[in-house]
Amino acid sequence: LTVGPLSGKHIIVTSGPTHEAIDPVRYIANRSSGAQGSAIAAALRDLGASVSFVTGPASVPPPQGVTVIRVETAAQMAAAVAAALPADAAVMAAAVADWRVANASDSKMKKDGTGQAPALQFIENPDILRDTSASKQRPKLVIGFAAETDDVLSHAAAKLARKGCDWIVANDVSPATGIMGGAENAVTILSASGAEVWPRLPKDEVARRLAARIAEALA
Ligand code: C5P
Repeated sequence: LTVGPLSGKHIIVTSGPTHEAIDPVRYIANRSSGAQGSAIAAALRDLGASVSFVTGPASVPPPQGVTVIRVETAAQMAAAVAAALPADAAVMAAAVADWRVANASDSKMKKDGTGQAPALQFIENPDILRDTSASKQRPKLVIGFAAETDDVLSHAAAKLARKGCDWIVANDVSPATGIMGGAENAVTILSASGAEVWPRLPKDEVARRLAARIAEALA
């Protein structure tokens, strides 16, 4: 274990997409690679934190030296985060599906020959960030992400209030930015003390700066 400013601190990091089943062979997912979440977990580890890394099916591997909890669905991620509490901080970098299929089928869905497509019904998933912020075991520092394609700052400010977290790491994931699935990120950190715009940086460097900030806040 590394000795550093976060030694003795337990930090939960969520990462990656979630997969929501339609039937046993099909699912709904999103384009999150898990790169930023993995980089954050590694940076926190490097500062000495004990990290519970709750990850959906990401395309980048989890870092070494952290406790990896693999999940598939949002409901499983919510349960894994609740089970990992208490913690000093939580960083919710996962791209959690907002909805799951309410009428998921236990067997593979088939074309019925009529040309009629099946109708999927959706039900809202638990909001892990909001629930963690409202928890009796609330970590001292709860950090959420806001991946937006428009009005990034106003949406992120609303999210900070709605989710009850301490910081929102906001970024623009419009396809033209190349951020989702890419190696760089351009983030703005929103908190009660205002907005701080960071330059476009490699995701590893965003992670190192964020980890250093977390260490300051928990000191
Ligand atoms: O509401 P929205 O998905 O835009 O919020 C993004 C933030 O909330 C991220 O930090 C994400 O990890 C978290 N979130 C969550 N559970 C959900 C939806 C989002 O923890 N069901």
